[in-house]
Amino acid sequence: MKFSIKKGNPEKQRSSCIVVGVFEPGELTPPAGAMNKAAKGYIDNILGRGDFDGKAGSTLVLHNVPGTQCERLLLVGLGKETKLDDKIYRDVIRGAFQGLSKTGAEDAMLFLTDIPVENRNAAWKISQTVILAQENGYRFNRLKTKIDETGSRLRKLVLAASSLDHESVAAQESALQQAFAISEGIDLAKDLGNLAPNICTPAYLAKQAVTIAKNHKLKVTVLEQRDMEKLGMGALLAVAQGSRQPAKLISLEYWGGAKKEKPVVLVGKGITFDTGGISLKPAAEMDEMKYDMCGAASVLGTIAAIAQMRLAINVVGIIPTTENMPGGNATKPGDVVTSMSGQTIEILNTDAEGRLILCDALAYAQRYEPQVVIDIATLTGACVIALGHVASGLLSNDDELAEELLLASRQASDPAWRLPLWDDYQEQLKSNFADMANIGGRAAGTITAACFLSRFTGKYRWAHLDIAGTAWKSGKEKGATGRPVPLLTQFLITRTKEGNRHP
Ligand code: BES
Ligand code: MN
Ligand code: ZN
Repeated sequence: MKFSIKKGNPEKQRSSCIVVGVFEPGELTPPAGAMNKAAKGYIDNILGRGDFDGKAGSTLVLHNVPGTQCERLLLVGLGKETKLDDKIYRDVIRGAFQGLSKTGAEDAMLFLTDIPVENRNAAWKISQTVILAQENGYRFNRLKTKIDETGSRLRKLVLAASSLDHESVAAQESALQQAFAISEGIDLAKDLGNLAPNICTPAYLAKQAVTIAKNHKLKVTVLEQRDMEKLGMGALLAVAQGSRQPAKLISLEYWGGAKKEKPVVLVGKGITFDTGGISLKPAAEMDEMKYDMCGAASVLGTIAAIAQMRLAINVVGIIPTTENMPGGNATKPGDVVTSMSGQTIEILNTDAEGRLILCDALAYAQRYEPQVVIDIATLTGACVIALGHVASGLLSNDDELAEELLLASRQASDPAWRLPLWDDYQEQLKSNFADMANIGGRAAGTITAACFLSRFTGKYRWAHLDIAGTAWKSGKEKGATGRPVPLLTQFLITRTKEGNRHP
């Protein structure tokens, strides 16, 4: 999809479709009013007949509206003016794109950037619109030979520049460019998540990282199993040993910031398929465990996005990646392994494999002398029970970092919620035979998983995002969401003080 920003009066635009908002129970926004005036009360007439009530996200398409230059006019309901918050604005925009998809319009101009949303400027509205437009148009057809042409025909979207004079068009333009980069990062993360697990293997993820590095001139290194053996990554290799696919440890480095500035390190869980290993998972819905590499995918998507926007910041992505399979050589419950940090782990459940690959990656991250480290992982089913599919779980050893991430999550409308990481929970990881066990019982499963990780983050500020409930959708709409690419990119953008490009 192509996006642009333009100033102009709605009634004068030669567009396949003009989109304007109407409040409940039938109050016209200024652009809708302008159309109505040009059409000599045509819209008021329709509202008067009760054909459209302005409920948030509802739409009505009108053809050949007199006095205007467009083929169609799409009315979009905005709900009650006093209630318009982030969520409703997003519902409205989604509704607008669903309405547009049902028409044959290949291009459209939206007049929805001046709608008042509390605490949100035009840049935010533009950014949300671009990302939701791309989401509406996303299809994963790569593995189909017959493609159903049910999707939207929309190819070109023009956003009306905010007419409020305190918002410069340049700032709006830059918000649009950044949002487009983010939406491409989201698409990349979705594609990798949705790919079949026989295709998206650890080697495939490594190849993707190399491609991103080539496209954006970044540094990439891929450690092979023998390299990891030399580094003493006994925990990661314990997960890999049941699989025929060789494990990899990918580092993708983006140095867009000042030379001396320490990098932000993002660590993404890259289990390309999680059978549970010898602690085998039940058969039902096991296919969804192809999504167990969505943390890794979000790291690649985020780095691709910030590289495209040439953000002035240093970021290193580290991706430990392997399958978790049962096999003749697979790890057994009761096995004790030594991690790269030197600490020993009793593997009581081979299905708690994410923390095993992450703990060695977190120890490896130390070599970059990071400013902060954030790991992103589909780590626990318990997180889905706690927070459902709305918020990602956030745990951190640093209050300031946690606040920064929560702020970014609100700004990006990619919600996260903090859970405690108190020492009281650490006791659940006691083992009679090693320094720790890899599971802490059923109670507080998300927290004890983070407690386990915290033991490998000795020297740096660290946060953990559990995206088990947010990285993909199940059921009829099954598919990756691309989350938390919006949160992570926003976090990095805020850190660089918006719009700052490196030379
Ligand atoms: N990848 C899963 C977590 C998961 C499960 C994500 C369901 C999304 C939906 C992880 O590797 C896992 O299996 N975790 C176990 C941990 C347990 C054995 C302590 C879990 O959550 O059941
Ligand atoms: Mn597992
Ligand atoms: Zn897993």
